[in-house]
Amino acid sequence: MNQIPTRRTIRELPDVLISQIAAGEVIERPASVVRELVDNALDAGARHITLRLLGGGIRLISVEDDGCGIPSEELPVALKRHATSKIVSLEDLESVATMGFRGEALAAINSVSEMSVLSRPEGAATAFLLDGQTGEVRPAARAVGTTVEVKELFFSTPARRHFLKSENTELAHCIEAVRRHALVRSEVSFAIWHEGKIVEQWRSHPGEAGWNQRLADVLGEDFVASSVNIDFRSGPVHVRGRAGTPDAARARADQQFAYVNGRFVRDKVITHGARSAYEDVLHGQRQPVYVLYLQMDPARVDVNVHPTKIEVRFRDSREIHQAMRHAIERALAVPRAQLLSSTESALAPNQTNLDRSFLAPSPSAPAGSNTWSQRGMAFGADRATEDPAKALAELKALWGNGPQVEEPPPIFSQAAPLASTAPQSTSEQDWPLGRAITQLQGVYILAENSQGLIVVDMHAAHERIVYERLKQQLDTTQISSQPLLIPASFAATPQEISTAENCADVLQQLGLEVSALSAKTLAVRAVPTSLAQGDAVELARSVLAELAQHDAATVVQRAQNEILATMACHGAVRANRKLTLDEMNALLRQMEATERSDQCNHGRPTWRQVSMRELDALFLRGR
Ligand SMILES: Nc1ncnc2c1ncn2[C@@H]1O[C@H](COP(=O)(O)OP(=O)(O)OP(=O)(O)O)[C@@H](O)[C@H]1O
Ligand SMILES: [Mg+2]
Repeated sequence: MNQIPTRRTIRELPDVLISQIAAGEVIERPASVVRELVDNALDAGARHITLRLLGGGIRLISVEDDGCGIPSEELPVALKRHATSKIVSLEDLESVATMGFRGEALAAINSVSEMSVLSRPEGAATAFLLDGQTGEVRPAARAVGTTVEVKELFFSTPARRHFLKSENTELAHCIEAVRRHALVRSEVSFAIWHEGKIVEQWRSHPGEAGWNQRLADVLGEDFVASSVNIDFRSGPVHVRGRAGTPDAARARADQQFAYVNGRFVRDKVITHGARSAYEDVLHGQRQPVYVLYLQMDPARVDVNVHPTKIEVRFRDSREIHQAMRHAIERALAVPRAQLLSSTESALAPNQTNLDRSFLAPSPSAPAGSNTWSQRGMAFGADRATEDPAKALAELKALWGNGPQVEEPPPIFSQAAPLASTAPQSTSEQDWPLGRAITQLQGVYILAENSQGLIVVDMHAAHERIVYERLKQQLDTTQISSQPLLIPASFAATPQEISTAENCADVLQQLGLEVSALSAKTLAVRAVPTSLAQGDAVELARSVLAELAQHDAATVVQRAQNEILATMACHGAVRANRKLTLDEMNALLRQMEATERSDQCNHGRPTWRQVSMRELDALFLRGR
């Protein structure tokens, strides 16, 4: 029954059809036209770009710029396929610094719409208007610059027009396309009109400070307030920009902007590198937010791999992945308490500022104060021993590592008033997380700082501190292990037994020794010293369960972090434990000095600032 298809002669396609087919790849919807036209305006050196839309861009897209313009004799050439002023050779392509280089966009747009180009270059007596349909060029009025008008997109290809969504949806995509440009070109002003009404306007802001202002204009003040600055060099790659704190993460990945040499890209390596930087502070499905600019020698990246240029190919993707990961990871590691002064002052200039020098090594953060391995794991262990006297002694020892060795800080001497702190030490006024006042319902620590009230989730915070200490120990040495006098045995599942056998090395690295007593019994013979007082069986079981899910060879680092997190959870002070004020203060000071202490191991915040202003608002109190 199979019919042999009748063969047709091989023929060259007509030019219009070639362009229409090509346009299918480049122009998908109004937003693609917007992107191409704004690209062109920026390449022409425009300082002001105005976009006017009708019907979500389907009926009309007009882009006006004050760039260099196109001489009248070149106007018809501009609409030809493969006609460009931006490259002339392969070498040019390899080092291309403009957005455009294919000489294809205008030809593609012209083949699926009614297009006209009105342009006047510097020095020309008048402007000229090119009708894309007829190719006719005639004099017209306009200041220096170019206006491209695109009407009735896909009018000649109804099938494509059917794929378009509602006007509102198309409008949103058009705005998003300009937003991507606006985030990287803060020196250029943008205005977007729809149906005669202005819908977005971003004024130009020159310079470094202007860029922050542009981010705030486009993404909102919140984005800037809840993100950290990134400026990181890794070999040939320079990463700059801002990355949101874990708190700022969103349900959707709709605020992730990455640029390579000024070009917006969507790239798996970049996205994955960024996501992995959040692994330790952001759990579940939450999506981080960021605006990041990667700068590198153009020869290290091929921009000519995708019809819409939104994808690129890196010569060395590992180098990009690592640069992204490390850039964000380092910036996020700094406890926000340390940054309180700088952000607060930027956002609320009339509020009391904390000591900026906290960012530099200062008495409150003495050199080496982060090396928890040197201090042992006193706090975590002592919570388990439930021995207040010993706990206090250990805490004193902790403080003793600071500059106050000779003179212990007065918080440990009940007689001394709090204010009389040793002269060279940071005064309590300067503690970013403030002075503990009390414990609430066994769950929260309330503290007072110069901004108002600090509320700390004590278990969550302590869990992170123990976790970071465990990680540091793993980095420097092995986690110290303590043999149990009487091994703790338990009835194990076949999977637990095989995991214990297969992962003996990893377990040992983690300070655990678990071996088979019989075909169905495991014995825990040693546990991490810091967790010696905990439930050895429960610990071994949860670690085995986690290990079973991970291929120890390839994801050891990740597994270790997760396992350490499990261990930290066991070691952390539980809710409903009464803490003394000294213990609370010690916890606050540890938080200030511990990396990533703003989030617990599950990505939830560990503390919140409630400002005086917010408190006043609660009581309708004007200031
Ligand atoms: N707004 C503009 N101002 C000045 N010149 C322009 C403008 N738009 C287009 N041109 C000129 O028209 C040429 C063709 O534009 P077109 O967008 O088709 O190609 P391209 O930008 O060179 O490459 P690509 O297809 O990658 O965008 C450009 O090379 C440029 O010289
Ligand atoms: Mg172009």
